[in-house]
Amino acid sequence: MTAMDMLDLAVEPPPGGKVLHASDRATIIWGDCRDPQIIASVPRGYGLLATDPPYGIGYRSNWSKQFDQLAGDDGSVDWPAVLGEWVGPDGTQSVGMADKRHVMVFGYDADTLAQPLRLSATIELIWDKVIPGSGDVASVWATSHEPITFGVHFKRPSDRNAGRGALTARLRRGSVIRWPRPSGVLRHPTEKPWQVMAQLIESSSVFGDLVVDPCAGSGSTGVAAVLEGRRCFLVEYKREFAELAVRRVQAAERLAAQMEAA
Ligand SMILES: C[S@@+](CC[C@H](N)C(=O)[O-])C[C@H]1O[C@@H](n2cnc3c(N)ncnc32)[C@H](O)[C@@H]1O
Repeated sequence: MTAMDMLDLAVEPPPGGKVLHASDRATIIWGDCRDPQIIASVPRGYGLLATDPPYGIGYRSNWSKQFDQLAGDDGSVDWPAVLGEWVGPDGTQSVGMADKRHVMVFGYDADTLAQPLRLSATIELIWDKVIPGSGDVASVWATSHEPITFGVHFKRPSDRNAGRGALTARLRRGSVIRWPRPSGVLRHPTEKPWQVMAQLIESSSVFGDLVVDPCAGSGSTGVAAVLEGRRCFLVEYKREFAELAVRRVQAAERLAAQMEAA
């Protein structure tokens, strides 16, 4: 980090964002993923969208109250529409993700996502967090899972209507991913374990693919992508989280380099 960076006290990202990290394996931008300049900079024909946007409910458990409310979580942002921009507008092949590739979105159901993201063959996966969160303590059920919508993005309505799965050849597995939620050091209020992201990425992309996460938070998608031999393109609005993502992805890059040299 340069002395100029250390003096950069702005909390709002600049228009077009600021690249905090760029390497052969990872690009991490501090920026607003609704910014058309940033959307235009995403490499065309990327391989997988794996993301966890704000849920738009302004919900804060007791546990997460030590953090500010998540940016974009007040219900004012139409997140499925924003993600629709990231896969590319209808009728285009020239921007966005490649045709017939997979999408994974936490926290939103298939009915909400299918149209804006032009998905078919959707299915609900479940992340079983093993350890219940404190959540709404007035409820008799402590939530210990999160839904993840899987879908296949089709550029052509005829393919979409045919409902093909376009699944890669791999062992068929169950739709519940069981892995304890992060506990102990609290770095981000909704951090996903990189091991969960690694399962999603490994099953829906190939070695060298570009994995995209426009709402990267602490960077778990990037860590998993790099450890799985993929590349990542991440955007995060809050500078402190974008910097955390850089530190974590750089650690994963060092490990990946060692694994490749072994
Ligand atoms: C649910 S969290 C993602 C957590 C992440 N999956 C992880 O494992 O840490 C959503 C993230 O989106 C970020 N965010 C909100 N509005 C944004 C925007 N306009 N552009 C980019 N990121 C945004 C929030 O700051 C938050 O970190």
